[in-house]
Amino acid sequence: MGSCIALAGASEVLRLPDDNLERLPQSRAEELTLEPGDLVIDGSLVAGFEADASCLQVDASGCAIVPGLVDCHTHLPFAGWRAQEYALKIAGTPYEEISRRGGGIRASAQALVMGSNDQVLAQSRALAAEALRHGTTTLECKSGYGLSVEGELRALLLADALLDQVPQAGTVTALLAHAVPDGYTAASWMDEVEGMLDAVVSETRASALDIFVESIAFSNDDLLRMGRLAHERGLALRAHVEQLSSHGSVPVAIAAGARSVDHLSCMPLSDIPALAASECAAVLLPGAEFIGNEHVAPGRELADSGAVCVLATDLNPGTSPVVSMPLIAGLAVRRYNWSVKEALLAMTLNAAWVLGLSGSVGALSPGRRADVLLLDAPVSHIPYRFGHNPVAAVIIGGRPVWVREDHRWRFEAVKP
Ligand code: NIG
Ligand code: FE
Repeated sequence: MGSCIALAGASEVLRLPDDNLERLPQSRAEELTLEPGDLVIDGSLVAGFEADASCLQVDASGCAIVPGLVDCHTHLPFAGWRAQEYALKIAGTPYEEISRRGGGIRASAQALVMGSNDQVLAQSRALAAEALRHGTTTLECKSGYGLSVEGELRALLLADALLDQVPQAGTVTALLAHAVPDGYTAASWMDEVEGMLDAVVSETRASALDIFVESIAFSNDDLLRMGRLAHERGLALRAHVEQLSSHGSVPVAIAAGARSVDHLSCMPLSDIPALAASECAAVLLPGAEFIGNEHVAPGRELADSGAVCVLATDLNPGTSPVVSMPLIAGLAVRRYNWSVKEALLAMTLNAAWVLGLSGSVGALSPGRRADVLLLDAPVSHIPYRFGHNPVAAVIIGGRPVWVREDHRWRFEAVKP
């Protein structure tokens, strides 16, 4: 082999039961294996599992080797923060009330208008760098704080620029129906959305449309319309549903052809079988549930039903100012009663599937891109040492892009 690297002698290597899988129902998560072993990287790709003496050696003893984490739901890029809203939430003010008072999404839209492109990108790059140190090697970016035609297009172009400027690969989602902009009704804003799609498709890299269905935002009818628009343009459909209250949006999203339904904190148990039987993934966001003291999504029931389950940070300045996927795993394991394998499946292969990338990332399979994490302990420590960052090294496309100080010695032979 030419430029191969062998991560040798790990105590655990997380592998799929079948290297070619592109998604896996959560009910089969225990089929993932965690045996001791090696991982061989050739150039930018995973090559195999037996260290070859001709490769540059990285001593992985005592470490777990897992695929790079895929954060498939973030609201990067955004401008500023909204810490004062958190104090209001702690004092008991509901999110809907904060939003009606001009906080919430509108406040971040205002900050985005005020910020220069350079300022927005600098803040967002710093957050992507922090996510990288916590193991995020692929991320989704959304618009949604534009709240005008020009603003949404600018946000999408900023998302494209961000992905060009960070080590992570990623996708861009056009969250064109996030809040109803001033001067519009939901229906008249949806007309604007329809009118801007030519520009979205031709000028930006957006590969999905998204919508927030809630009493303070858009309706199930708007969701169906967004689904038709996505279908016409060959874009995926994502949907924020059942977050703050139930609107029966899960079957509507399935009918609209959604790739994923995200949040689900308030979804009725009776909608689970239809979701499990569909192609649509359940993206759970326990960071938003925790910060907002929201209902807890039926994570255990969804997993047992055979649905494809996914975890993400929902990184945004309002409901989830959370960057760390290991922290999200810790919340999911405790609050949904999930195993560590379930949490890892939900933040690797299945998350990559939501982004349409599971042919190339999300698993340590030969031929997939070598996005790999070295963890400082067995995977059982991810949820258990809640708040500790277990990531010792991050490899993207076969290249070490971050190595924690106390693990540099392992990489003596492989200078980043
Ligand atoms: O995913 N729910 C709607 N959108 C975001 C929150 C946006 C914000 O508060 O800025 C979410 O939670
Ligand atoms: Fe979100």
